[in-house]
Parts: sequence; C-alpha cells; structure tokens
Amino acid sequence: MRSRPLKVALLGCGVVGSEVARIMTTHADDLAARIGAPVELAGVAVRRPDKVRGGVPAELITTDATALVKRGDIDVVVEVIGGIEPARSLITTAFEHGASVVSANKALLAQDGATLYAAADQHGQDLYYEAAVAGAIPLIRPLRESLAGDKINRVMGIVNGTTNFILDKMDTSGAGYSEALDEATALGYAEADPTADVEGFDAAAKAAILAGIAFHTRVRLDDVYREGMTEVTAADFASAKQMGCTIKLLAICERAADGGSVTARVHPAMIPLSHPLASVREAYNAVFVEAEAAGRLMFYGPGAGGSPTASAVLGDLVAVCRNRLNEATGPGESAYTRLPVSPMGEVVTRYHISLDVADKPGVLAQVATVFAEHGVSIDTVRQQGRQDGDGEASLVVVTHRAPDAALSGTVEALRKLDTVRGVASIMRVEGE
Ligand code: HSE
Repeated sequence: MRSRPLKVALLGCGVVGSEVARIMTTHADDLAARIGAPVELAGVAVRRPDKVRGGVPAELITTDATALVKRGDIDVVVEVIGGIEPARSLITTAFEHGASVVSANKALLAQDGATLYAAADQHGQDLYYEAAVAGAIPLIRPLRESLAGDKINRVMGIVNGTTNFILDKMDTSGAGYSEALDEATALGYAEADPTADVEGFDAAAKAAILAGIAFHTRVRLDDVYREGMTEVTAADFASAKQMGCTIKLLAICERAADGGSVTARVHPAMIPLSHPLASVREAYNAVFVEAEAAGRLMFYGPGAGGSPTASAVLGDLVAVCRNRLNEATGPGESAYTRLPVSPMGEVVTRYHISLDVADKPGVLAQVATVFAEHGVSIDTVRQQGRQDGDGEASLVVVTHRAPDAALSGTVEALRKLDTVRGVASIMRVEGE
C-alpha cells in the first residue's frame, strides 16, 4: 500500500458532509485497504464554522472554499454544498488545480452538467455524482458502467422521498394533501419550504440527469416537463382504487418508438397495484429501468438522508481515488447520440378522466364524439347516476394510448360542453 495519503477537501459540512467526514474517520483503515492508499481529510470549507458537526478537527475548518480548492495538493474535492453558485465555480477551479470531484449536486448537474464534464475532461480529472440521484441507491454507476453495453429504452422512477411519503399517507389513511404534508413536515421528511419537492423541481433535476445518461444525450432541467403533486386529491385516490391503481409522482424518461428522440417528464400518475413501483412506500425511492438485452431492472432504497447520501459519496470517493492511483479516469460525458428532447405534447400516454355530466339522453354520445374528434380512442367508460337528485352523473373515461397533446385537447373541448358540468379529476395512467 502507498503510504502517502490522498488528500480530500470537503466543501460543505451539513447533514451529508458531516456524515462523510465521520465515515472517513471511523472507516479510515478499511477505506485505505480498499483504495490502496490512505485518504486524509485535508480541509473542510463551511459558511458557518460554529455549526460544524461530525467531530471535524477545528484546524481543518475554513470559510475560504476557493483557497482550499486552489491549494494544489488536493486529490479529490467532495462538493456537498448544493446550488448553482458558488458550487460551479468551485468545481471548475478544483479541476483547474488538478483535483477530481465527487458531487451530490443534482441542480447543478441538471442545469449545467456539460460545463462540468468539459472542465473535467480538459484537465484530465474525474467527475462522479452517484449521490445526486436517489441517495444511497446505486443508479448512476449501473447506468454509466454496468449497462453501458445495453440499450436503455425507459427509466421510470420514484425519485423524491418527501412526495412519496405524502402520497403514501394519502393512499393509506385517506388524508388530504395538506394533512399529509403537515405530517411529513412534523416527521422531518418535508422541508419548511417544500416547494422544490412538491412542485416536482427536485424530481425533474434527477430526471434530466437520468435521461442524459440513459440515452447518451444532453438533457437539461428545462427540457423536462414538470407537474407537481399539490393538486392530487383524496377523490383521485378513490378513483385510482376503483381502477386497481395507486398514485405516485413519477419521473419518466423514454426513447421515442422510432428511436429519433427522447422525452423526460415528472408528474403524478396512476399505476396498477401490480406494478413494482406501486409497492414503494413511505419515503423510499425506486427506479425501474427497461433495457433491450437486460430486460427490466429495479433499483430500490433510501433516496435521501445524511448517512444514505454519504454512502454514495464515499463509494464515489473510493472509485475516484483508485482511478487516481492507476493514473486513469472513469467515464466522462457520453452525449454522442445527440437525440433531441421532444415536448410533452408528443409523449404517448393514457388518461383517466372523471367528469360530472348532465344525466340525460345523448350526453354519452356527445362526450364520445369529442374523444373521436381528437383521435383519442376510449378504453373503458363507467357511468354512475347519483342519488342526490341533481340530475348529474359521474362519468369516468379511461383512454387508450394517445399523444398527450390530443388528450389535453380532448379535456379542453370537454370543458366547453354545456352538458359537462365539471372535470373532477384528470390523471395520466402509466405502467401497463
Ligand atoms: N428532498 C429530496 C427527497 C431529497 O425528498 O427525496 C434530496 O434530493
């Protein structure tokens, strides 16, 4: 074993960073044996030195992150501060000064991964980011390496634990969205400001990263269609139950049937209870990958939290250190297919539509005509007269697969019919 240690700079020492520091210290001998050289924490950059946890020695702490990454003797920079700046500048500066980078920064990778990859390539350094998507779950490495010889056609997953916890609560207890969110907040799953999670921004960043890797093309956050889950109601869950489904916030990345483009989207959807993703409960994450030769694979586990995320960071750290000792680098950006990202309107999907309609002759025919005019084929229709004497009935229509633009056009036209008193719920149906 080499006696000279590899030096690690840690940027950020919050929930994840402090766990990284702790594991590096407590597992130092195992890490050294696995890498072939000791790894030494050479500096920890933080904004608030008084808040540092994880037993980090005071002499390692600095508030000058730029000076730390410019030191010139750092082998690996671990970036767990998040956000776009100063993270991007610090990472590119690290590459310029001869360090490889392990990052957990999904927002930055989804928004400007190309800049990071280019800087890593230019300076012959590694960029690893297993922790950026789905916490502890090994996903980036399997997609980038284990499945590099296969052709991935679809990646569909639950990549946000907070929203899965809320939806699971709504499903199992019949709670409404606000009540379930309050419980998630009280238990520490949801942030004080849950916008990034509940509006799907967090999942969209992860979808962009997954789609880019899976299809060997560039997919940016802005390319991802996004709908949050704040509008999902207890009535939607009741409808889903009648269909033998549950509702999940899904990130779906697909190769178009003709192979000429890809799509990436995040929205709530009904999935059959028989689908493996339906059984992903509480704050767990899972990602379902469909590859031509491998078939269907599912990756499951804790998608957030200090220790699980630190596990992914440490795995990357070991890999990058090994590469360094071998004077090699791991995989860089693979975007050679240059496949364009199609808009949501071109995605082929199914809709479950629940309408309140006038209960009188000819209404069903009128509704069916709107579907036909938009080229949307109906799979099932269920009408239920109501006992409240208001002359209305509930009409539930489930469509066959059709372009999303045709489906949303249908809903728009239905809203304009006098006999349609209201659209009670619209939900895409996936996983069949
Ligand atoms: N807030 C995320 C979640 C974890 O709830 O899954 C970090 O991406």
